[in-house]
Amino acid sequence: MTDNINYSDRETIIEISQLDKIYTTGDINLKALDDVSYIIKSGELVAIMGHSGSGKSTMMNILGCLDTPTSGTYKLDKIDTSNLDDNQLAEVRNKKIGFVFQSFNLLPKLKSWENVALPLVYGGVNAKIRKERAMEALRSVGLENRANHRPNELSGGQCQRVAIARALVVKPEIIMADEPTGNLDSASEAEIIEIFKKLNREGATIIMVTHEDNVGQNCKRIIRFHDGKLIKNEVIDHEFYRDI
Ligand SMILES: Nc1ncnc2c1ncn2[C@@H]1O[C@H](COP(=O)(O)OP(=O)(O)O)[C@@H](O)[C@H]1O
Ligand SMILES: [Mg+2]
Repeated sequence: MTDNINYSDRETIIEISQLDKIYTTGDINLKALDDVSYIIKSGELVAIMGHSGSGKSTMMNILGCLDTPTSGTYKLDKIDTSNLDDNQLAEVRNKKIGFVFQSFNLLPKLKSWENVALPLVYGGVNAKIRKERAMEALRSVGLENRANHRPNELSGGQCQRVAIARALVVKPEIIMADEPTGNLDSASEAEIIEIFKKLNREGATIIMVTHEDNVGQNCKRIIRFHDGKLIKNEVIDHEFYRDI
């Protein structure tokens, strides 16, 4: 996909304003996110970085509509998620977000294409179309020739590519990944970074949590957290943000 739209003309997909998340355990309150505000626009490839305990996973769970903030607002595609009940949140999540996890979360007994097709089974898509769309998603991560392999017949990097294909199969607005290279050797890590960059060039908006500097340096922008606060917004791809 050619890409000559200016950053300022791009659509805002995520808008976080003055967001707090407080965990209460017994009589102790822990502020895991503290007055966080930022936006993410279509076509971005953003790394969320910070030390262990800085609030990255808490942020990701809220972005993924798996958890809700204590205060502040989160708008996803202009929808204010604080007004939604659990069923509506699940619907937004299933329609708009593809998730990739550190531990792949593939079902060991299913072939690659069957793992990829699973979200469509839950979505009620018919069997023939499920297989076609699964194969299409596997093709986009370069794994159509492993469609009939099971996870134990694949390398870690290949398993993660199957998991990325599974995230893509519902054609989500945005892909979210929490430490997607955390369980991989450096060759597989490079393979996964390349896949995310390719999908991003083709138009996907991607947010990934990572604590690896070289993963962050391959993104367009890094958002850094420390003790629940957003402490730094760091542009890596100056060409992408040239008009702001
Ligand atoms: N469910 C929870 N209950 C209580 N405290 C939590 C919970 N989840 C995370 N925390 C705390 O919130 C802070 C941020 O955690 P987390 O978002 O997991 O950080 P990171 O992903 O950056 O390592 C940490 O101090 C952590 O101990
Ligand atoms: Mg974490």
